Amino acid sequence: MHEEILFFDTTLRDGEQAPGIALSEAEKLEIAEQLGRLGVDVIEAGFPAASDGEFRAVARIAQSVRGPVIAALCRAGAADVDRAFEAIREAGRPRLHVFISTSDVHLDSMLKMSRSEVLEAARDAVGRAASYTPDVEFSAQDATRTDPEYLLEVCRAAVEMGATTINVPDTVGYAMPHEFGDLVRLVRESVPDHVTVSVHCHNDLGLAVANSMAGVAGGARQVEVAVNGIGERAGNCSLEEVAMIVATRGPALGLSHRLTLREIARTSRLVSMLTGYPIQPNKAVVGANAFAHESGIHQHGVLMNRATYEIMDAAEIGYEGGRIVLGKHSGRHAFSEALGRLGFELDREHVDRAFARFKELADRKIQLTDADLEAIVAEDLAVADEDVFAIESLQVAGGTHLSPTATVRLRVAGEVREGSAMGDGMIDAACGAIQVASGVQARLEYFNVSAVTPGTDALADVVIQAEVEGRASTGRGVSVDVVEASARAYLAAINRAVRQGVRTSERTDVAS
Ligand code: KIV
Ligand code: ZN
Repeated sequence: MHEEILFFDTTLRDGEQAPGIALSEAEKLEIAEQLGRLGVDVIEAGFPAASDGEFRAVARIAQSVRGPVIAALCRAGAADVDRAFEAIREAGRPRLHVFISTSDVHLDSMLKMSRSEVLEAARDAVGRAASYTPDVEFSAQDATRTDPEYLLEVCRAAVEMGATTINVPDTVGYAMPHEFGDLVRLVRESVPDHVTVSVHCHNDLGLAVANSMAGVAGGARQVEVAVNGIGERAGNCSLEEVAMIVATRGPALGLSHRLTLREIARTSRLVSMLTGYPIQPNKAVVGANAFAHESGIHQHGVLMNRATYEIMDAAEIGYEGGRIVLGKHSGRHAFSEALGRLGFELDREHVDRAFARFKELADRKIQLTDADLEAIVAEDLAVADEDVFAIESLQVAGGTHLSPTATVRLRVAGEVREGSAMGDGMIDAACGAIQVASGVQARLEYFNVSAVTPGTDALADVVIQAEVEGRASTGRGVSVDVVEASARAYLAAINRAVRQGVRTSERTDVAS
């Protein structure tokens, strides 16, 4: 008999707390739907008290995603609990996730509360949450730096008030696997059997996955994970790594899962595309090199028998070659069908916009693959209704004997603004022209260009991170032309920051 490990995915909550990520409502919904296809047990959709936008996104996920439990995070206070439940009330299976810090350093320096006050707040909030839904999770933030006696007292109180899952977070990624396993075992032994013990590990010392598995050995049956391991600081425990540990070693460990493994590759790609967080090439399971064999001895072995050097099957995780799907003569119907086959469920407005963009690109590139379509949709999903600026036209000039210059025309609220600039190169000039036309100051911090598919006619996929008036923001752009893709990515980062509250200054027509 294998024991099932529950996957609690926090990509949309803790994952989204990674610097520079600010997903639009449409992007969050697309990720949640994909997590549903992957078969995670719980989707933590967000933290509704954080903002109205966050509340709306959580509510939309709760209304439309069926299958997984939909969880909303709340601090241990009545207003937070009420707001969180308001957001998920329409979910098929709503869960309230109440948290409060329990370590002395958090109590003294951050909460300014005594241990007994925290205990009382936890009791009240869990009790209130349980009056809304029978599915309540309680997290003792910074559990690994909490006095174990006090931790157990708070956990028992939460269970008494109705918590059905007790989560043990290693909030600052401080624990060693043997310590964490012991702590989880202690919690497991202190709460009744009907309560699920959960682990939530951060990766500050690179131990999030090891600690989570030590927690499982200590009796945890829910693991909190994020796709590609994104999250606060060094990130959260990586979903795909735990999934493949359970899939590969589960039979020996007596563990099982309910994930649809062939959705892993697509989930990882989608999250990377929409968040703008690239995947390191040597990342376990989903890195570009995870199944690449460079040395002759390895290549020879794998050709003779894959099992010589591979413990997982790439196809099982959903990696297969990109197929040629559509060209410039393909119509809207074929385009929508291809999107459906790739698992996208877009509303009419997004399909129309993505189709228009597809036509533009197909006119300049003969054929587009699945990967190209994914990149087009990812770029489009980042466009939100309230976006401020759109590129009307871009002209660049440069070369070995010409100073790089660019002129851009941006559409904004029905008018067109123009800006020109010179730069160190054509991309620099295009970004400068966008700053002039938009009136928003942005400093490029990270720039990554990759080809979506092999070949000289590949779409360029550019991801940038910029500091926009003091705020980190990411943007993505795709085009057959790398300068245009960069300009689109740069403007997407500006739009994202403006959506988050960066103000645009008054129009500045042309400058250099
Ligand atoms: O890291 C942490 O402690 C958290 C809690 C809110 C569960 O994210
Ligand atoms: Zn966390």
